[in-house]
Amino acid sequence: MLNIAVFGSGAGSNFQAILVAVQQGDIPGARISLVVSNNSGAGILGIARAAGIPAFHLSQKQYPDERSFARAVLSALEAHGVNFVALAGYMKRVPPEVVAAFRGRMVNIHPALLPRHGGGGMYGIRVHEAVLRSGDTASGATVHYVDEEYDHGAIVLQQEVPVLAGDTPAALAARVLEAEHRLYPAALRMIAAERAPALKRT
Ligand code: GRF
Repeated sequence: MLNIAVFGSGAGSNFQAILVAVQQGDIPGARISLVVSNNSGAGILGIARAAGIPAFHLSQKQYPDERSFARAVLSALEAHGVNFVALAGYMKRVPPEVVAAFRGRMVNIHPALLPRHGGGGMYGIRVHEAVLRSGDTASGATVHYVDEEYDHGAIVLQQEVPVLAGDTPAALAARVLEAEHRLYPAALRMIAAERAPALKRT
């Protein structure tokens, strides 16, 4: 069973899409065991609590240094039996100790077709501004494994969307966000299936 913790900082629309997919049985072998946000007022915490999922405000600001914050994150993950982490609109750097503990078991969603338009500072509307400035005719979203560098780990799955004439950054962002809501459940479904115990050959 994939016991997923979802980390987010904002509205939680990606988390919502994953939650609905799990509730509808579209991600067999997976459940959401925990939600964490660095922002006590984030929508993602409200959505999780309404669904009866343990949801905690955990922020570096509550701890004297990154190491003690990392230990707090790891103990929360452990306490809830988490074996997989999905970053969904999480705007903070994951402490290296946590990345190391979950190497190969932590993914993120980025609102562009990595490796294009990724890396430090490329988040939110800035991504879409960069895509439009570049003249790319396609953009999209990427689910990738998390390593120590931003938006750098192996790609799990991508979903392409067209860039349309006259697109504003906001219009492109909305089109990409819709793609994210399809992509993340599909990516987690693939991962859960790969991790399912090999079916007994009859
Ligand atoms: C969006 O910009 C999305 O592209 C990125 O995180 C932001 C908000 O996501 N992945 P959410 O609505 O909080 O899931």
